[in-house]
Amino acid sequence: MEPISRRRALQLGGLGLAGVIAGGVGLAWQGCRGTRFDAAVGVELSEPSVLASSGGELALELTAAEGDLPVAGGRVRALGFNGGLPGPTLRVWPGDRIRVTLRNRLAEPTNLHLHGLHVSPAGNGDNPFLRIEPGQDFDYEYQLLDTHPPGAYWYHPHHHQLVADQIFGGLYGAIIVDDIDPVPVTRERVLVISDLTLDGGGRIAPASTMDRMLGREGNLVLVNGQLRPTMTAAPGTLERWRIVNACVSRYLRLRLDGQQLRLLGLDSGRFTELRPVEEFVLAGGNRADLLVSTMAGSGQLLALPVDRGAMGMMGRGGRGDPSLPGGDATGTVLATVEVAGAAASQPAPVPPQPSQRDLRRETVAATRTFTLRMGTAMGAGGMRFTIDGREYDPDRTDHTVRVGTVEEWTLVNESPMDHSLHLHVWPMQLLRTGGREVTEITWQDVVNIPTHNRVTVRVAFDAYPGRTVYHCHILDHEDLGMMGVIEAR
Ligand code: C2O
Ligand code: CU
Ligand code: CU
Repeated sequence: MEPISRRRALQLGGLGLAGVIAGGVGLAWQGCRGTRFDAAVGVELSEPSVLASSGGELALELTAAEGDLPVAGGRVRALGFNGGLPGPTLRVWPGDRIRVTLRNRLAEPTNLHLHGLHVSPAGNGDNPFLRIEPGQDFDYEYQLLDTHPPGAYWYHPHHHQLVADQIFGGLYGAIIVDDIDPVPVTRERVLVISDLTLDGGGRIAPASTMDRMLGREGNLVLVNGQLRPTMTAAPGTLERWRIVNACVSRYLRLRLDGQQLRLLGLDSGRFTELRPVEEFVLAGGNRADLLVSTMAGSGQLLALPVDRGAMGMMGRGGRGDPSLPGGDATGTVLATVEVAGAAASQPAPVPPQPSQRDLRRETVAATRTFTLRMGTAMGAGGMRFTIDGREYDPDRTDHTVRVGTVEEWTLVNESPMDHSLHLHVWPMQLLRTGGREVTEITWQDVVNIPTHNRVTVRVAFDAYPGRTVYHCHILDHEDLGMMGVIEAR
């Protein structure tokens, strides 16, 4: 056992979790690594259909239903929006209105959340408290501000206790808010990365109690529903990839050798200067806006292992134990990139991006602390996932903030695993993470809080009175209660 695992195992013992783990149901990460899907590997990447706004409005229907959907080159009994996994990509402009008729054709309740969009949480807006029953239709309406940040966002169901199952089943899609000042590129791609586990009958495998505690990781990692597709390009071009981490729990440490990578932004944030990277991590729910300068050669887009504390949770294993999340020491090949042929002409250089609002210069009206913990429930025999000692209760308002003010929040993780914090409606500016100052202006809507560590952020509550939620975006944890309610007035 590696020292890090031993240390976490000891911390775990201190929390008295060993009994829970010993009594846990078996792991579900084995299986399905076989040759069944190999026939589909190497097919050119395809993209979900695009629904684009016109005349300031995008009106669409999203039907959530189970079906035999094309997944990983075969047919899989899964969930999808409009028969796809992922669902259609929505393309809008700042200032647009989006009208969605959600048709619930599932056998259970659901609803719709536009992750990362700065829109009202009230009424039939981005309201996570709505419950759309099976067979019911519901009309959502969202109005984007003219100043809405361009970037990559996504949509998914948000019915508490069913979020992880419905996303793992296949319900998600990308949203692009276009740039008023276009970024000159040769081509754009949307890459929705998700994971799932199939049982022997080609159905989505159910999650065990242990899967939910650790945060389930599927054993197939898909790009736009495809298994290890190929992207081809000519050398000398500039591609813009919008990457969505739609995995329920898996963190993606992405790496692509042989090509020049620069981040234009993360989530709703935009870097003033392009940020050269060799690899970067997307927690579940995060998005990257990545520029790829193509160079001749072939390479692989990899998801490298991320130890988010699950090893310690198990009290065994360590890096290289493939039965644990992040335990696959070599990582997972997500796609192959083939750059060949005659060199194309480079587009014009990317102009510097407008500088973002910097809350470090602004007055703080209030400070708050949010503490994320895991512990055993008295008598219940299960694990409690809490924020400030409480499990989610939709009828309780945990925090009330003033519209028009800036707050500073300290996010504390007092548990042996990493958790993330996601806040609806209002993005967060990172100030400090794990004792390190964040010098560049960095805006995210999902922030990882490493085990036994803390992160400081500032939030501007400009506009939108109403109630909404914040939660761990390891969505099994959210479903287990690691969520709270915030009201802005
Ligand atoms: Cu991606 Cu509360 O959600
Ligand atoms: Cu969200
Ligand atoms: Cu968590």
